[in-house]
Amino acid sequence: MRCPDCPRTHPVIGPDGPSSSNILFVGERPGKEENSRGRPFIGQTGRECNEHYLPIAGLSRDNVRFTNSVKCYSVDDVGKDAFKKRLKSCSSFHLAREIEYQKPELIVPMGAVATSIIGCDLGMDHGTPINADWFGTTIKTFPMYHPASGLHDASAMIPLRNDFIALGQFLRGELVMPFDEYQTSFNTAAEEDPPITHILLSKTREA
Ligand code: URA
Repeated sequence: MRCPDCPRTHPVIGPDGPSSSNILFVGERPGKEENSRGRPFIGQTGRECNEHYLPIAGLSRDNVRFTNSVKCYSVDDVGKDAFKKRLKSCSSFHLAREIEYQKPELIVPMGAVATSIIGCDLGMDHGTPINADWFGTTIKTFPMYHPASGLHDASAMIPLRNDFIALGQFLRGELVMPFDEYQTSFNTAAEEDPPITHILLSKTREA
């Protein structure tokens, strides 16, 4: 299946990881290695996540799901406006269906592209749990910097590590949702929504 704006030049790379997981990490788009091997986050950035960042939050690749905002590789040759159009077409087609199927309790959009889907300001809001509207459904969301940022710029590793430390605190119930204290413009939580205290890793563990 392809979205209406798909260039149809490269494979559509779907999610990776158990659909029973309660957590969905959303990146930008597949890289070269992902494109040739058909799975998201299996190149250098994915290895960094598996070996370095996920363990900081007390997570392992086996119990979370990874996907991308844009599902195919061939988007770097288009201009900014064309990319925005493609992001909208692709994400509202594929990502919306993936979320509907998995029903994650928490979404972790990583980087400016994934966080732009919910209209949040990455610089202001990274490392903070919010409620955000994902294609018409309000879902707990933890925006953070993209894990590739630390590959290109060593100083970017510090805020990135801090985001994963904060994510771990949130998962253990040590951070409260900010809507208890203030309401951000994109925070769609109703006043009466209960504050979340912890996220179970897998839906099967709820039983
Ligand atoms: N690999 C992916 O699949 N997505 C990214 O955003 C980066 C690397």
